[in-house]
Amino acid sequence: MTDALPHSIRDRFPLLERAVYTNSCSQGALSNEVRAAYQRYLTDWDEKGAPWDLWVELAGAARSRFARLLHASTDEIAVTTSVSAGVSSLLSGLRHPDGRNKIVISDFEFPTIGQIVHAQELLGAKVKHVPASADVTIPLDRLAESIDEETALVAITYVCFRNGSKTDVKAVIDLAHEAGALVLLDSFQAVGAIPIDVRDLGVDFVAGGTLKYLLGSAGLAFLYCRADLLPQITPTQTGWFADEDIFQMDIYDYSPSATATKFESGTPPIPNIYAGIAGMDLMDEIGIAETEQHVAGLTDQLIEGLDRIGARMVTPRDPARRGPMIAVATTDEKTLVAALADDAILTSPRDGNIRLSWHCYNSAEDVEAVVAGLERHSEFLAR
Ligand SMILES: Cc1ncc(COP(=O)(O)O)c(C=O)c1O
Repeated sequence: MTDALPHSIRDRFPLLERAVYTNSCSQGALSNEVRAAYQRYLTDWDEKGAPWDLWVELAGAARSRFARLLHASTDEIAVTTSVSAGVSSLLSGLRHPDGRNKIVISDFEFPTIGQIVHAQELLGAKVKHVPASADVTIPLDRLAESIDEETALVAITYVCFRNGSKTDVKAVIDLAHEAGALVLLDSFQAVGAIPIDVRDLGVDFVAGGTLKYLLGSAGLAFLYCRADLLPQITPTQTGWFADEDIFQMDIYDYSPSATATKFESGTPPIPNIYAGIAGMDLMDEIGIAETEQHVAGLTDQLIEGLDRIGARMVTPRDPARRGPMIAVATTDEKTLVAALADDAILTSPRDGNIRLSWHCYNSAEDVEAVVAGLERHSEFLAR
């Protein structure tokens, strides 16, 4: 395996001089480019006062970057402050043409998806959860049993934030579409680490954000809505940036945009847009497909190391069912994460597991350091 990719870019991430960083599933490492983008925001603010024309233009540039990333058109992208904001707006207006009112969700969803979906029960929706099987996947036949003629929407996550399990997204979308249901894909743990093409997938809605594998910061996210679905969705959760003409400043009616900006809300998150564009540009330069391939080599190497020291991996072993994050069973995840942090190895805990996530800047030496660290603290590994 070649380490050419990380070694060509590591000096752009000062944190990597001080620590082994395997926590991109929580937040990507800060690059010099993103730091400079934040500085540019402050300089523009200081020098120009209130350059709102420039800032609205930059929000449009973020929309174009998200569109390019997903192989979507710009009219299909809402620029939001979080996945929660975009998905809440979407579900506030989503009415199935046949009057269907059931939402099927996998048990791998992030809390915000679960909570927003259950909030729809207050408006008459029925919610059906699809549990995982012992192999830490959501089996297609269980999904198939749950998706019926009442199902309006199926909510799935690309890579589960708790255990790293990767969904066979295309198969679920085909299944849901055959039953006449729409699909919402939470891509947060995949976007930037796995190439996503909304046309190839045929997906209806995709949410995600910049703070993890897109190397931006918190406070910038997107919602993709397939163009032909836009006319039938009128959000009731809204704001003035969702209007068909924000400069009209109209307070006498509600005329949402015909494009996906109908899912936007208030003033755009300008500082995070500077950072998010810089992060996306960086991933454009580095290459998401190249990153995915590089990370597949690192995770294979990690699994060999885990086997060697007798650690129990929670993420499925099948390479098709895992992505950039590998979860390992522990007896005390918080203490293990703290012990590794004392050794300058940065990871994160979740649900009894330690999460080890890999990105373009991680190297084979990082993998060795993590395996050695786990071996050193092996009293916290669950066998
Ligand atoms: C899968 C997934 N969905 C959503 C989120 C965050 O959602 P929001 O942008 O609403 O905070 C995260 C992580 O923070 C995540 O891992």
